[in-house]
Amino acid sequence: MINEINPDVYISTEDIAARTKEIGNAITKEFRGEEVVVLCVLKGAFIFCSDLLREINLPTKLEFISLSSYGANTESSGNVIMEMDVTSNLEGKNVIIVEDIVDTGLTMKFLLGLLEQKKPKTLKVASLLHKTSRTQVPITVDYLGFEIEDKFVIGYGLDYAGRYRELPYIGVLNAGN
Ligand code: IMP
Repeated sequence: MINEINPDVYISTEDIAARTKEIGNAITKEFRGEEVVVLCVLKGAFIFCSDLLREINLPTKLEFISLSSYGANTESSGNVIMEMDVTSNLEGKNVIIVEDIVDTGLTMKFLLGLLEQKKPKTLKVASLLHKTSRTQVPITVDYLGFEIEDKFVIGYGLDYAGRYRELPYIGVLNAGN
């Protein structure tokens, strides 16, 4: 057996797909007639981003950036490191950051600061999940999938110590798992 745990479904594959479609439609409506740069924050957002990209009916370009704020823990270290920068010029572009989850907000604050220096025309945040009760830095999530409780979630790209990204739904990591 590849996975030794089968976490309970917290957000189903179907609910994620339906919400992703709605977010894609909202982005399509807001940027009609323009090009957008979809900026995938690695690694956790890669599945959400690939599904969202296919729900945006606009000319798009895809960029990646890699950030790290966690070691093998479930608590943010607060130290955000950029492991890989974007490869194209974002000046004058409509940039949509695509993230898996905003927890304390420290990572997104760091990323917004970094990207503002690149002088995009617009800078928006799309996040599948937001743990609002854990906020340390308030972040405006322009396109939000689901507000969630203070639980450590895995699957659909989100990991625990590098694992469980392949689960097709969002599950909760319990002590008993
Ligand atoms: P923040 O800086 O506290 O907002 O944390 C953001 C990052 O922490 C996310 O991009 C995730 O990589 C990670 N993270 C926060 N909460 C969870 C969770 O419940 N499961 C998996 N990763 C999480």
